[in-house]
Amino acid sequence: MIKVLFVCLGNICRSPTAHGVMQQRLNDLGLNKQMKIDSAGTAAYHIGKAPDLRSIKAAKLRQINISHLSARQVCDEDYEIYDYILAMDKQNLANLSANQPHGSKAHLALFLTFGTMGYQEVPDPYYGDGDGFELVLDLVADACNSFLQHHNLI
Ligand code: 4NP
Repeated sequence: MIKVLFVCLGNICRSPTAHGVMQQRLNDLGLNKQMKIDSAGTAAYHIGKAPDLRSIKAAKLRQINISHLSARQVCDEDYEIYDYILAMDKQNLANLSANQPHGSKAHLALFLTFGTMGYQEVPDPYYGDGDGFELVLDLVADACNSFLQHHNLI
């Protein structure tokens, strides 16, 4: 089983969207026994909150439900549990790397290293207009598919 943690700053926009999109792909493909996934934030601001309403709405338009997710912060145990800890941007990857406990074998990477759309980072949609949430969905859906292909799951 491959274990994957998606990480952004607040765990209310980008990483719960990636979590929801990948969960739907796993459900559709019958791959829930092949992969375990979760999401978390590097920051503590939004612990316990549901995803941003704009993320919930944008996902719902694509028949993806993320409203039940609850924000949490990355913890030391994550570095032991997960094979891949996939960051939405370089700043979060740098923070993850700085906090990686000695001896952790988790692979830390930008999620979009698996993407094919020419972006390195998933732009933070939090302070922008509504279009940012559509772009997040497009980028993470593409990278989810590529990640599954890379691991010969599709
Ligand atoms: P996320 O977006 O990292 O994709 O969840 C953000 C959410 C909250 C904040 C920044 C980014 N914030 O500054 O509160």
